[in-house]
Amino acid sequence: MRLPIISSLLTLASAFTLNAPTNPTAGKVTEIHWTFTANDPSNFTLFLLNNPLTDPFSLVAVLGEHLQTNLGEIQTLLPASLPAGDTYELRAVNPENVDFVFASSPIFAIAA
Ligand SMILES: *[C@@H]1O[C@H](CO)[C@@H](O)[C@H](O)[C@H]1NC(C)=O
Repeated sequence: MRLPIISSLLTLASAFTLNAPTNPTAGKVTEIHWTFTANDPSNFTLFLLNNPLTDPFSLVAVLGEHLQTNLGEIQTLLPASLPAGDTYELRAVNPENVDFVFASSPIFAIAA
């Protein structure tokens, strides 16, 4: 009887999904979408990272703090100083403990 319990916990943990933005460009407004369920936290902080797989200090921008989860999307201005690259990632984290990651987007490219 253990397996069903484990799989339902995994489902809960992965309910929050952060999508990669479409054609994001440095210095331009970009839409960011996410999906969630009633079990997800009510708000989160949104980080933009570059090269998170190899660089532990990869935070390049804080795109929002205490964002209300039920918005489902925001429009945000990407910093003009971002270099073009294809190793960017969005991360939704706990506002009170940013080491606690609610969701990570797929790796995506930003044009400059
Ligand atoms: C954010 O969520 C936490 C719990 O996840 C809650 O304690 C806090 O009041 C919320 N803050 C806002 C601004 O909604």
